[in-house]
Amino acid sequence: MKDIRTSVLYNRKMAPGYYCLGIAAPDYPALAQAGQFVMLRITQGYDPLLRRPFGIFRTGVLEGANPQLPAQDYMEVVYKVVGHGTRLMTHLNPGDEVSLLGPLGEGFRLGSSTHAAPQDALLVGGGIGVVPLFMLAQRLVEQGSRVRLLLGGRSCTDILAVTEFERLGVETYVATDDGTLGEEGLVTRVLERKLHKYPYACVFACGPMPMLNAVEHICTQAQAPLQVSLEALMACGVGACLGCVVKGREHSTHHPDYLCTCKQGPVFDARELSWPDRTGSTVEEQK
Ligand SMILES: Cc1cc2nc3c(=O)[nH]c(=O)nc-3n(C[C@H](O)[C@H](O)[C@H](O)COP(=O)(O)OP(=O)(O)OC[C@H]3O[C@@H](n4cnc5c(N)ncnc54)[C@H](O)[C@@H]3O)c2cc1C
Ligand code: FES
Repeated sequence: MKDIRTSVLYNRKMAPGYYCLGIAAPDYPALAQAGQFVMLRITQGYDPLLRRPFGIFRTGVLEGANPQLPAQDYMEVVYKVVGHGTRLMTHLNPGDEVSLLGPLGEGFRLGSSTHAAPQDALLVGGGIGVVPLFMLAQRLVEQGSRVRLLLGGRSCTDILAVTEFERLGVETYVATDDGTLGEEGLVTRVLERKLHKYPYACVFACGPMPMLNAVEHICTQAQAPLQVSLEALMACGVGACLGCVVKGREHSTHHPDYLCTCKQGPVFDARELSWPDRTGSTVEEQK
């Protein structure tokens, strides 16, 4: 993990309300793992006071037009404009300074004895939740997995980066609430069909909590392994403020079991977490 002042390389509009920010990021191509995130201080001053967390979309090396100049390591953040900080980010220009803390957290578990690279992988993204799935798709393709991406969003403008995934050879299936792109309806319906077709697939998901709840339910029914990337409100990003805790699987009023999203996550094996029952309150809360 490094805390550096660095510079903006580009800040491109991808779709209404969505931008891609390229930042000079020494050593990130070697250091950053799929599913990790960074904390960004966007301005020189203290407005906003707190850094903002963003997933790492991709890393790479920019070759300059002049071969005499050194190539430059970079990372990309894809962000949705939702409030004060992200609105300020839209005004960043090449050469502007930002402060970059990262790479942070635990990413997707791949290639270990408990989480071997699967033959079939289903990646489920809801809206901006597509961000951590791109580097994951790169790693899985490198390791020989057959990767299918299921992307959901409210409308066609919320479906991002399909071309980037397709360039990796990933089959992509899109569902939108209003039917303006792909099939009309929820991406979880597509997941049910794909799990029926590929019953031994491993599932990896990132998106809004209601979508993750539904994905967890479907995977439990199908006995499919699931890893999820969570978003929580984060103040420090390094395990100091405990503002980002979520309930672990063993949590009860008599036995608190909290997990720190920024240190132990943001990616978790779904079996580590406490999930709601189908009535909306957690199983533990009902006891
Ligand atoms: C690990 C992690 C990775 C993330 N990756 C991305 C990413 O790749 N792209 C992206 O666009 N966003 C991502 N986010 C969310 C991003 O951090 C927030 O959208 C951002 O901090 C909002 O800042 P703001 O100042 O614009 O909004 P604020 O003015 O602070 O808040 C505006 C609204 O957004 C809500 N909000 C703020 N932070 C979060 C959050 N973390 N989760 C849910 N709602 C939030 C607030 O409750 C409020 O309703 C990530 C969050 C986490 C924890
Ligand atoms: S954000 Fe401070 S402990 Fe996680």
